[in-house]
Amino acid sequence: MCGIVGYIGYREAYPVIIKGLQRLEYRGYDSAGIALYDEKDIRLSKTKGKVADLDKKAKGELALEGTLGIGHTRWATHGEPNDVNSHPHYSNSGDLVIIHNGIIENYEPLRRELTKRGYTFTSDTDTEVLVNLIEDVKKNHNLKLGKAVQVALNQVHGAYAIVVFDRTKPNEIVAAKLGSPLAIGVGEDEFFVASDASPFIEYTNNAIYLEDEEMAILRRGKKIKVRKIKDDSLVDPYVQELQLNLEQIEKGGCDHFMLKEIYEQPEAIRDTYRGRLRVDDGIIKMAGMEDNLEKFLQADRILIAACGTSWHAGLVAEYIFEDLARIPVEVEYASEFRYRNPVITERDVLIVISQSGETADTLAAIKLAREKGAFVFGVCNVVGSSIAREAHAGAYTHAGPEIGVASTKAFTTQITVLTLMALKLASAKGAISRTELQQHLAEMEAIPGKVEASLTSDSHIKYIASLYKEAPNCLYLGRGYNFPVALEGALKLKEISYIHAEGYPAAEMKHGPIALIDEQMPVVIIATKNGHYDKVVSNIQEIKSRKGKIIAVVMEGDTTVKELADHVIEVPETTEALSPLITTIPLQLLSYHIAVMRGCNVDQPRNLAKSVTVE
Ligand code: F6R
Repeated sequence: MCGIVGYIGYREAYPVIIKGLQRLEYRGYDSAGIALYDEKDIRLSKTKGKVADLDKKAKGELALEGTLGIGHTRWATHGEPNDVNSHPHYSNSGDLVIIHNGIIENYEPLRRELTKRGYTFTSDTDTEVLVNLIEDVKKNHNLKLGKAVQVALNQVHGAYAIVVFDRTKPNEIVAAKLGSPLAIGVGEDEFFVASDASPFIEYTNNAIYLEDEEMAILRRGKKIKVRKIKDDSLVDPYVQELQLNLEQIEKGGCDHFMLKEIYEQPEAIRDTYRGRLRVDDGIIKMAGMEDNLEKFLQADRILIAACGTSWHAGLVAEYIFEDLARIPVEVEYASEFRYRNPVITERDVLIVISQSGETADTLAAIKLAREKGAFVFGVCNVVGSSIAREAHAGAYTHAGPEIGVASTKAFTTQITVLTLMALKLASAKGAISRTELQQHLAEMEAIPGKVEASLTSDSHIKYIASLYKEAPNCLYLGRGYNFPVALEGALKLKEISYIHAEGYPAAEMKHGPIALIDEQMPVVIIATKNGHYDKVVSNIQEIKSRKGKIIAVVMEGDTTVKELADHVIEVPETTEALSPLITTIPLQLLSYHIAVMRGCNVDQPRNLAKSVTVE
């Protein structure tokens, strides 16, 4: 997982790299390190902890000069997070220095082989093995750095995005990729390399996303050279113009990215459907679907594979696709799907959902489905990400960068895209009339305003958070479209506040979880007017009679639940199909406030990373 940044050009590399690492900290934050070349030698500093710790340490021990440098923020895979295992790593001679995101799977036999040849290792990492392998190849065959990297990478199995340089040739850096993301920023007489474009967005809008098994040689004052690692052929790289801007990736006055991103949802949802729907004409336009409509219409079923919050969006989609478009849907954890030998045929459509577009299990699900001949459609947020590129077609969510590790606006924009897809298919199949389609679309256009209205409950939710911040457990219940919202609410709470929380379909409570209910147990329950309301009210009564504390999310004007619940949070009324876009908002705010009150690191919860590029 890890974030990597490299720079070669005419600026001081240190501030470019430190700021870049801060933006990539969502990828991992166990430890961090930096190596600079200051016209004489390599200066290296690394430490367990965050980029801020590295900044402090490096300022104390380095001269911080140099126009070439590389930096790393780590999410440990091989070797515990400590100073020694932090990147960058030197080769034995001290000439080469490397940063790496990924896993070298055959590092053990390589390490044994290198040990026999006299190499020694100070860390437990696979990365130190790789840098010494490059050195060994370079020395034994008297090769230039680029060629040595290429030969060495042909001997490794696994995933990598690496950047390496040689202090005896400090005019170039070499970057390479397989399975882990790597973007190159192309400026005037300067290059940036990073795990995504955020570290270089204020310097250049021109980016190249390396494909798997490609490497780039970046020389000061020269044109970039991109080659295929396998056969050495030259590639003409595609330079994209990025749409990102700096403001989008900064906190904009909020205490945390998560809060900023919760509040961005009205705009993010609007951006996601903008240009895709025309209420008056009853039209939905989605480029990725136009050309492939028949594939969807002819499909025996739709499979959906994703992880975490994206999987919850997939569960919401299952309700929408089956309810409105009458297409059978199966939703799978990508990690299970890839390994359970699933039956997939050419008549299946697989929809994969991913904010980052880099989740390893989801990527593997695509590969498997493609091999079996299924059509793969990606719903991603990060433009140009691996999943966006591996899918046959897709639709972006246009949520803008999501930096907080806990997904918020990615979830609601994924549901927005998936709803549009379901409506488009429902209409193409004649499962809904034109008037019904227009009604759904008009309601979709009303959603951003309703999300805004839901956000006005923030201070009331903060008060509720203050009452339950010490609870050791919490249950979340919902039915139908709001069952996945209950799962998502529970995930948000546990991941950022470390309170144990479980989501259940409300009716399942009787089959076990009801045993947990006593006067200490807060139960968050979603009671929308159009979704089996009476049944949910009965569930609330069952909790009440066991003295559980009820926090109910209800629609405006509700009176029945108000009388039963300990606390109610009102949200504007909408159709049941679109209600997850609204009911999820108070649950995000509740988790956020509880986590802040418990002193947790909301944007970077322990043990988590934003982009899970290892399985
Ligand atoms: C939870 C969360 C994770 C991600 C999951 C999949 O708040 O963010 O559960 O949803 O790791 O990530 P993507 O969507 O990037 O594939």
